[in-house]
Amino acid sequence: MVDLIVGLQWGDEGKGKIVDLVAKNYDVVIRSQGGHNAGHTVVLDGKKYALHLLPSGVLNPNAVNVIGNGVVVYPPQLIKEIKEFDKNIKNRLLISDKAHMILDHHIAIDKARERLRGKNAIGTTSRGIGPAYADKIARAGVRMGELKDIDKLIGKLSDYYEMNKGYLEYLGVKIPDINDVKKQLIFYKEELFENITDTTKYLWDNISKNMLLEGAQATLLDIDHGTYPYVTSSNTIASGALTGSGIPPKKLNKVTGIAKAYTTRVGNGPFPTEESGEEGERIRKQGAEFGTTTGRPRRCGWFDVVAAKYAITINSCDEVALMKLDVLDGFKEVKVGVGYERNGKRLDYFPSDLDDVKPVYETLPGWDGSSGARKWGDLPDNAKKYIEFLEEKTGCKIKYISTGAEREDTIVR
Ligand code: IMP
Repeated sequence: MVDLIVGLQWGDEGKGKIVDLVAKNYDVVIRSQGGHNAGHTVVLDGKKYALHLLPSGVLNPNAVNVIGNGVVVYPPQLIKEIKEFDKNIKNRLLISDKAHMILDHHIAIDKARERLRGKNAIGTTSRGIGPAYADKIARAGVRMGELKDIDKLIGKLSDYYEMNKGYLEYLGVKIPDINDVKKQLIFYKEELFENITDTTKYLWDNISKNMLLEGAQATLLDIDHGTYPYVTSSNTIASGALTGSGIPPKKLNKVTGIAKAYTTRVGNGPFPTEESGEEGERIRKQGAEFGTTTGRPRRCGWFDVVAAKYAITINSCDEVALMKLDVLDGFKEVKVGVGYERNGKRLDYFPSDLDDVKPVYETLPGWDGSSGARKWGDLPDNAKKYIEFLEEKTGCKIKYISTGAEREDTIVR
């Protein structure tokens, strides 16, 4: 049985908390896309860990953690997380031999391209994600499994640097000394090779176990279905999780979509329900909306039903987890984006581009005191009405409601 957790907005919905809550139910936890652009903080035995690449199954001492073929792995980051986390994690970590590697030049290219884009910058996390995926699609990438033959790999990389010489020069990216690259690769191999395997085969052989696919980033950042070009470079939606792991589509059981009770976005790009004034500032402050990976302040705004419906449909969500409801405590009124308008025409569907789109709002009465509620009955009436309104508008059941940072501050309906 394979379940999936997927973000419904622009990321940072709090997927980590739900994964943390349910991780104990799974034997295998799988990352299937993205890289160390993702990030969440977990607390285990009172110690805080910032996870970027390790799947959240590390929290469950019995779970096997799989970094699937669709992930782009920056080996130094993975090695660091393994060391920081605990030594035993090595015994329950599998890295796909088909996963592509982020090398230092990918990071340099990412930064250089952003610099050259100027005001049109994507606002990437500068982790080399886009350039590594670009090489993968161009069939010029390096897979983790290729660490088995360092000399062959070095030959391939020398050709790569030669072929891309002009481009790298144009970007101002220095071609590394191939001997230094070789030393790095040998180190990566020493640290990681025993964990590299054919994870597709492993997942097929263990398909009767309870498995969780843990999404990174979120639907509106999907390379095909998100707000292109202001997206990440992987398929973040449910079907991407299947491609990125090799799990056969019909094995997918339950899909849980994660959304905040409001909306945030880091980086550039359209955001119809963004609140750039005082109310947005208040959400940012109350919700501590600063990026885990880059520390950037997140842009904040109201819940967007049009975007949520689109995300729920494309991911075939069975249920939604609504996060950080307590952040809206104390607002006299809360707004919900229920539609869009473009050139005076109403749109009820999330269009392929959001140019000139303006939100249509409904305003609901606010509430106070949802913080820390652990039962539906503990919620203020207006908070209940808000949730029921979102359910009615999105057409999807809200199964979990998060009302605080603690794992227990969660209502399960
Ligand atoms: P990249 O993934 O670093 O290429 O960044 C592309 C876009 O995705 C930027 O707007 C980033 O802010 C955004 N992004 C990437 N990873 C995350 C994430 O984990 N949470 C939220 N936004 C992200």
